[in-house]
Amino acid sequence: MSLFPKLNGFFIRHDLWHAEEVSLATIAEQFGTPTYVYSKKALTDAFNAYETACIRTDGSRRARVHYAMKANSNLAILNVFAKLGSGFDIVSAGELARVLAAGGSADKIVFSGVGKSKVEMIAALQAGVKCFNLESIPELTRLNEVAGSLGIKARISIRVNPDVDPKTHPYISTGLKGNKFGIAYDDVIATYQAASTMPFCEIVGIDCHIGSQITEISPYMDALDRVLHLISTLDAAGIKIRHLDIGGGLGISYTNETPPAITEFANTLLDHIEEKGFGHLEVLFEPGRSLVGNAGLLLTTIEYLKPGETKNFCIVDAAMNDLMRPAMYEAYHAIVAVKNKSSVPEVMYDIVGPICESGDWLGRDRSLKVEPGEHLAILSAGAYGFTMSSNYNTRGRAAEVMVDGSKVHLIRERETIQSLFANEKVLPA
Ligand code: LLP
Repeated sequence: MSLFPKLNGFFIRHDLWHAEEVSLATIAEQFGTPTYVYSKKALTDAFNAYETACIRTDGSRRARVHYAMKANSNLAILNVFAKLGSGFDIVSAGELARVLAAGGSADKIVFSGVGKSKVEMIAALQAGVKCFNLESIPELTRLNEVAGSLGIKARISIRVNPDVDPKTHPYISTGLKGNKFGIAYDDVIATYQAASTMPFCEIVGIDCHIGSQITEISPYMDALDRVLHLISTLDAAGIKIRHLDIGGGLGISYTNETPPAITEFANTLLDHIEEKGFGHLEVLFEPGRSLVGNAGLLLTTIEYLKPGETKNFCIVDAAMNDLMRPAMYEAYHAIVAVKNKSSVPEVMYDIVGPICESGDWLGRDRSLKVEPGEHLAILSAGAYGFTMSSNYNTRGRAAEVMVDGSKVHLIRERETIQSLFANEKVLPA
């Protein structure tokens, strides 16, 4: 059983881990640690794996990727995808501003999320986003009012909660009855009928998203069939759906998981849609993790080795504020020594950060041959790594670099300590 994911863009050469042509030791020396390192090749290949399924052999398009930028919203990453022709899935006015700044085009943006504020609706309407994915009647009513006040018609889709079990971590499953997301399956038709009477809402699509880190295709097929059935019912009621947004959620391998390959996954869903007679629909995918997760790692330096009676601790300079996933979901990330030191004995460690919480761990019970001062790479950290990071313990957030062949580009400077409290004020004397 391999405990390492299959990676593209990161590999061992001469006993040293590399990102494309550059050794991680060189990056650590040049940029310091903790630093997120991304491979442009891995990002591009993952995107093109979707495109292979999305474009027919005659060159016509049968689906489009709308990258769920919450997974990683660095401008450079957005810009790589925008140049490859990607659309985007956003969930806030902040993400809207970011993606426009990175060269994304508004007519390829879908706006998801359960709690869009008036201000966010105005920004998205003025930018001219492709579609609002709506999740409740009050949200629909508010959008109709806001759009009316601007004299703009909002293109909308209703997010269906298909009530299927995605068989993933409960915190990242979204398409079950008990989740806060989407409109209950049985209420969808009535919601569309309500939307069809709203003068400033134009029905264009339907969407669903059932969860994240899904490693099997069957929950998607179940959800898809339920949504296709709704499209037929709507059609019979005179409500025409032009696009079908299948959401994101395809899992990646963190250790020994075997999710379907991207192209195979997308082809299976698209073929099914065509076989069922819905080939006329424009199809949207909203992947996040499967595009960026294994295209990034977190580089860190060992501060101390601390032997203990029941556990040995490897204390590093990255912490739960840099990568929340282990603390929050008990997520497993493979951790490797950047330099293979065969001379050092192998010891079992818990890899922990300097934060004052027992939950501040990055990996448990990992065998490593390491010494203080050396570097570790925490793998599969490209998705929900930097974007979920915080300044807890007044720690500046990590630097980010993107490797492109033999070039390393600094794509986010490390935060300075002064910047962390620059917006704060003490009370007047
Ligand atoms: N579309 C919608 C509406 C979503 O809510 C999400 C993710 C996606 C697309 C992208 O899903 P993906 O392809 O990345 O699975 N922080 C968690 C994951 C939260 C996912 C939230 N929604 C983690 O670190 O595992």
